[in-house]
Amino acid sequence: MVPPNCARIGKTGRPLSHVLTDCRIELADSGDAAAIAAMSRDLIEYGLHWRWAPGRVAASIGDRATNVAVARIGRRLCGFGIMKYRDLEAHLHLLAVHPSCQGKGVGAELVGWLERSALTAGIGVVYVEARSANSVARAFYRKLGYREFAQANGYYENSEDAVRLAKDLWLGRVGPDA
Ligand SMILES: CC(C)(COP(=O)(O)OP(=O)(O)OC[C@H]1O[C@@H](n2cnc3c(N)ncnc32)[C@H](O)[C@@H]1OP(=O)(O)O)[C@@H](O)C(=O)NCCC(=O)NCCS
Repeated sequence: MVPPNCARIGKTGRPLSHVLTDCRIELADSGDAAAIAAMSRDLIEYGLHWRWAPGRVAASIGDRATNVAVARIGRRLCGFGIMKYRDLEAHLHLLAVHPSCQGKGVGAELVGWLERSALTAGIGVVYVEARSANSVARAFYRKLGYREFAQANGYYENSEDAVRLAKDLWLGRVGPDA
């Protein structure tokens, strides 16, 4: 999957005071797998079995149909997102921002970067699931234009519910070259 040009946070029109201006978004490399997996375990999969262990993350980094984007400040990893691209749709598998970097626009920049990759590939819709109890994630996705369209009972290990969300990337684009 061809990524968009590496975006440097602060060039997106958001007020600079709101974002980490020295943070950059880029593709992960294999050396990031362990740190990403640990963030998934601690920030996303807590209370569940650890499904996104380093080997699975490394396989996604090497998968041509998947983009693993990371947000870095210097060499430090402060967030990541994993998006799988199919012919007509994309699926955001995982997204997390380190607690010390949350609330500064990093998550929105990561999702925007992955969405631009999808649009470049001609994909018009992105799907994502969130734990029903994760009110922060649900508010975050709603703010970014995602709509909740279904509940999946027992989605996580038959014991915890998920909400399914989707975003039409073509909505709001005007004209054939938009
Ligand atoms: C969800 C998460 C990725 C958001 O990342 P973030 O970098 O903190 O989010 P941003 O700063 O880009 O916020 C963008 C918008 O989301 C909403 N938002 C973010 N954090 C929020 C919170 N704690 N409460 C309510 N709304 C919130 C806001 O509308 C915000 O826009 P605003 O700042 O203009 O008001 C982050 O909280 C996180 O990593 N959580 C743990 C892992 C997780 O739940 N992942 C998602 C499920 S896979």
